[in-house]
Amino acid sequence: MSRLLVTGGAGFIGANFVHYWLQQHPADRVVVLDLLTYAGNMASLALAAGNLQYRFVKGDIGAQGLVEELLVGEELDTIVNFAAESHVDRSISGPDPFIDTNIVGTHKLLKAAKEIWLDGPMAGRAHRFHHVSTDEVYGSLTSEDPPFAETTPYAPNSPYSASKAASDHLVRSYHHTYGLAVTTSNCSNNYGPFQFPEKLIPLVLINILHGKPLPIYGDGLNVRDWLYVDDHCRGIDLILQNGKIGEVYNIGGNNEWTNIDIVKHLCGLMDEVLGADAGLVARFPQTPAAAGKRSDSLISYVQDRAGHDRRYAIDATKSRGELGYLPEESFQSGIRKTVAWYLNHEAWWQAVMDGSYHQEWLAQQYGDDER
Ligand code: NAD
Ligand code: TYD
Repeated sequence: MSRLLVTGGAGFIGANFVHYWLQQHPADRVVVLDLLTYAGNMASLALAAGNLQYRFVKGDIGAQGLVEELLVGEELDTIVNFAAESHVDRSISGPDPFIDTNIVGTHKLLKAAKEIWLDGPMAGRAHRFHHVSTDEVYGSLTSEDPPFAETTPYAPNSPYSASKAASDHLVRSYHHTYGLAVTTSNCSNNYGPFQFPEKLIPLVLINILHGKPLPIYGDGLNVRDWLYVDDHCRGIDLILQNGKIGEVYNIGGNNEWTNIDIVKHLCGLMDEVLGADAGLVARFPQTPAAAGKRSDSLISYVQDRAGHDRRYAIDATKSRGELGYLPEESFQSGIRKTVAWYLNHEAWWQAVMDGSYHQEWLAQQYGDDER
C-alpha cells in the first residue's frame, strides 16, 4: 500500500492520474497538492471528491514547509511530480513562471523530500520521488533521425523545455549526491479528457464547434508523437512498481503525426459526428456543418511559433523491455473517445473558456485543505 503526494493533480495529466490511481489502487492514500494556476481546475477532480482516500490541498510545490508537513502528517512515501507550467507558447511570451515552478519549485520539492525522507523523521523508510518530464528536453529531430532514447543528449529549445531539462538534472543530482530514491519519465504529447483548450487537440475541437479558425503554425509539417493520457498514467504506474531507482524511462505512443494531418483527421471526425447529430449542430450554429460546410474550411495557416521544434519521436524500447510497457489505446479509439468526451462535457470546457472555472474556485478562497 502506498501513500502518494500528487503535485499538479488538478491539471490535465495529474487529474487523469488521480482518477486512474484511485481506481487501480483503491487502498492507497492520494493527497493532491496544486497551486490552482490558470491550468488547475477543481472540476477535473470532481469525480474524486467523495473518495475518502483522496484529499486536496491548495498550495505551491515551492512551499517547502507545507510539503514537509504533508509528508510527515500524512506519512506519505511517494511523490509524483506533475506540477509545472506546461505550455510552450506561454513560455515564449512569459518565461518567468516556468523558471519559478519548474526549476525552483521542483528544487524546493526535492529539498522537502530530502529533509523528511533522508535526514528527518521518516529517514530509513522506503520512499520514491517520481518526476514527470517530457520528450521536449531532447530537442528536435529531422525526419531521418532515430527517435529519442534515454541516452539522447539533452538539447532543449524553448524556455519550457529548458526549464523541464533543468528540473530533470536536479532530480538526477538528488539521487547521485544524496541518495534520494528517484525515477524520471520523459513522455511524448498526451491527449484525452480534461486537457486545457490552449493545446492543439482540444483547441481544434472547440474551435470547430464555434466556427473559429484552426491555426496551423508554419507549414503544418511539424511532427508530434501522440499518446492517450491513460497510457501515460499506466507507464508511470509501471515505473513506480518496477522501475529501477535513479533511472529514466521514455514513454511514447509510437504514433507520429504531422500537425496538419492530425487537424484534418479531427475535422473529418467532427464532420462525421456533426453529420449524424442535428441537435448538436443546432446547439452550435456557427459550426461549419450548420452551413453545409466541412470543418477543414476553417484551417488557417499562421505565423510559425518561435524556435518551433520540427519533430519529436520516442524510442520506448527500455520501458517495454524492463517494465512491459506498451500503449493499450489505439489512436483511432483514443481520439474518438476524446472527441466524445469533449462533446459530452461542454460545461467543463465552457467554464474554462469563459473563465468562470477559476473565478468560482478562487472566490471560494481555498483554505489549505479542501475536498
Ligand atoms: P497542466 O498545465 O495541465 O497542469 C499543470 C498543473 O500544475 C496545474 O493543475 C497547475 O495548477 C499546477 N501547478 C502549476 N504550478 C504549480 C506550483 N508551483 N505548485 C503546485 N501546482 C502547480 O499540465 P499537464 O499537461 O497536465 O502536464 C503535467 C506534467 O506532465 C508537466 O510536468 C509536463 O511537463 C509533463 N508532460 C506533459 C505532456 C503533455 O502532453 N501535456 C507531455 C509530457 C510531459
Ligand atoms: P501543443 O499542443 O502546444 O504541444 P507542444 O508544443 O508541447 O508539442 O502543440 C502541438 C503542436 O501543434 C506543436 O507543433 C505546435 C502546433 N500548434 C499549432 O499548429 N497550432 C496551435 O494553435 C497550437 C496550440 C499548436
